Amino acid sequence: METLIPTINRLQEVFLTVGAEVIQLPQIVVVGCQSSGKSSVLESLVGRDFLPRGSGIVTRRPLVLQLINVPPMTERLKIENGIEAKQSASNLYPGVKAEEWGTFLHCKNQIFTDFNEIRREIEAETDRTSGENKGITPEPIYLKIFSPKVLNLTLVDLPGITKVPVGDQPEDIETQVQEMILSFISNPNSLILAVSPANSDLATSDALKLAREVDPDGRRTLLVVSKLDLMDAGTDALEVLLGRVIPVRLGIIGVVNRSQHDINTQKSLDDSLKDEHAFLQRHYPSLASRAGSRYLAKTLSRLLMHHIRDCLPELKTRVTVLSAQYQTQLNGYGQPVEDHSATLLQIVTKFASDYCNTIEGTARHIQTSELCGGARMCY
Ligand code: GDP
Ligand code: NA
Ligand code: MG
Repeated sequence: METLIPTINRLQEVFLTVGAEVIQLPQIVVVGCQSSGKSSVLESLVGRDFLPRGSGIVTRRPLVLQLINVPPMTERLKIENGIEAKQSASNLYPGVKAEEWGTFLHCKNQIFTDFNEIRREIEAETDRTSGENKGITPEPIYLKIFSPKVLNLTLVDLPGITKVPVGDQPEDIETQVQEMILSFISNPNSLILAVSPANSDLATSDALKLAREVDPDGRRTLLVVSKLDLMDAGTDALEVLLGRVIPVRLGIIGVVNRSQHDINTQKSLDDSLKDEHAFLQRHYPSLASRAGSRYLAKTLSRLLMHHIRDCLPELKTRVTVLSAQYQTQLNGYGQPVEDHSATLLQIVTKFASDYCNTIEGTARHIQTSELCGGARMCY
């Protein structure tokens, strides 16, 4: 994702300058059975430890996680202290002396710089509305994470699909959770990450079944096969990962997240990524370059890139129209146009066309050379 950040930031600036709506990136929603590894997958995408994870029902309310790109702290503080007189979105967060931080909608003025505290607050806020005995509520928790290392993107973590009520759960828990999930994934601007563990039968995957209900053509569903490390001796997921069991248009990506033991012993995300890589090299050498959490992140970046490419014609048209209007205006003043050659719009036009070309080039390259899980990506 990191290579996308500067490009998108600049494009967003261009969009703002020409008064177009900023690009709405699709929101990414994880769907799957309880304990399939949804929260773990999201965490590895964000690159920070802060989500409650564990066996049994841990995620009991939707978590709408809005990632917000901010300048690095040194730059931000310079701007705030007026050393650089520039109006900027960063003025909205005065005085935060941290590189990355989080805020919750339900405790507005509190700034969380410790990610362990963010996790504890999610747990506490879950208990507040859902009780402490496995209850589930559809009312989301809203969390914003501010960081120079993230894309402006929204991720949604959801409770898992479950069949048999436990604790304080109602009899119709299965329907309730399904409805909650459907309410998020039926949004056509959401990208569905269907998470299915490798140690259960893909043909019965409830995640894929739900995804199909709202996305029958598979235009916005990506399948993540988790727990590759937990398969029975003598079996592997090769056929599944190659799309020979169930084809998935946008691709099928196998991952190994941290086990419960890894969580208990506080294994770091970096170590986990290294071990995942080694595991894939050992067990799936032919697929290792097209599997794993890093590859999943890259694939999502590409899908987002495609989305942006689709927004570009509108941007180009706007810039051209505004340019023409401005030119007419200048001519109307009867002033020598040369004096105003370095107008904002001319800069923007050049800027936008440079970036459009870069992105279109990248997109063309992706279209012709990138195959994912055996299927052409067509988001
Ligand atoms: P969720 O309920 O779908 O959000 O799943 P979690 O991310 O909370 O994970 C549930 C449990 O499965 C935790 O104990 C994780 O450590 C474990 N887990 C998740 N993914 C993997 C994996 O790929 N391999 C192993 N061994 N354990 C995993
Ligand atoms: Na769980
Ligand atoms: Mg979870």
